Amino acid sequence: MVGHGIGGSTRVVGVIGDPIAHTRSPAMHNAAFRELGLDWVYLPFRVGADDVAAAIEGARALGLRGLNVTVPHKEAVLPHLDRLSARARACRAVNTIVFHEDGSNSGDNTDVPGLDRALLEAGLPRRRGDVAVLLGAGGSARAAVAALGARARCVVIAARRPERARALARQLRGAVPARLVAIDLAELAPGHASGRDVLARASVVVNATSLGLHGETFVPLDVDATPARCLFYDLVYTRARTPFLAPAARRGRPTANGLGMLLHQGAAAFTAWTGRRAPVEVMRRALVRSGR
Ligand SMILES: NC(=O)c1ccc[n+]([C@@H]2O[C@H](COP(=O)([O-])OP(=O)(O)OC[C@H]3O[C@@H](n4cnc5c(N)ncnc54)[C@H](OP(=O)(O)O)[C@@H]3O)[C@@H](O)[C@H]2O)c1
Repeated sequence: MVGHGIGGSTRVVGVIGDPIAHTRSPAMHNAAFRELGLDWVYLPFRVGADDVAAAIEGARALGLRGLNVTVPHKEAVLPHLDRLSARARACRAVNTIVFHEDGSNSGDNTDVPGLDRALLEAGLPRRRGDVAVLLGAGGSARAAVAALGARARCVVIAARRPERARALARQLRGAVPARLVAIDLAELAPGHASGRDVLARASVVVNATSLGLHGETFVPLDVDATPARCLFYDLVYTRARTPFLAPAARRGRPTANGLGMLLHQGAAAFTAWTGRRAPVEVMRRALVRSGR
């Protein structure tokens, strides 16, 4: 068992990404294995962009049971997978791989239910709202479009390079049951009538940019234009009140950071690998401890 020594029958899972030193997933998963008395271990693997195919083949050859996939490989792994879940196909990104007994593998995107569950915990009901605003058009924005597309009639994707937002909307259009609209992030600053109209109809604003990760100031957003109950959700989880969340909280808007999404994507991956219900509260406590 984890904590009692790794032996010949220990099952191995892990996460590939680059960089990987910051990952909090080993703390969360290894705490869950300990809690359930499972002889499993979760390890971080730094894998460069040129080695993604070799890493997946190597993991299969070494008998790993599964992998999480993080920045920047969530799209790059796709050609190396035998099967994809419907949601991984919809957002064209994978964060969880399962290696099966018959030597095949399959890819899923548990960031989608992870964000959905986190939004629910943060008080956003599943009924379809009018507009969901998504900031950023990078890797994690794909899962966010899929999760938000099930919760709003229209998802507005705002990026500093609007051509990236347009490309994302084009790729995912039809894959989610919502209208996808691309705009320039600068339009959401105070003083822009078009941005004010969008924000006035928003039930949720999600930050999927990496801005604020290191405490840097967030771009100006017209928080006052949003309805009083509009939820501000940040995928960044380095602090409770991130630079994106702070101005919203000061104006009395409900806010939550990305720890809930990290937790629930991990819980879904845990179940995919082990077939066991994840001990969510144990994992949550381990995540919180790992950030201190
Ligand atoms: N909570 C969770 O479970 C979870 C899961 C996944 C990711 N995350 C977090 O989500 C964040 C984004 O991850 P990712 O994988 O999507 O990263 P990514 O693929 O690198 O995308 C980052 C996005 O942020 C934008 N951006 C970066 N700097 C900016 C700035 N100064 N102003 C405006 N936009 C800026 C980028 O725009 P350009 O394309 O113009 O550079 C891009 O749209 C990271 O902080 C990551 O840790 C959290």
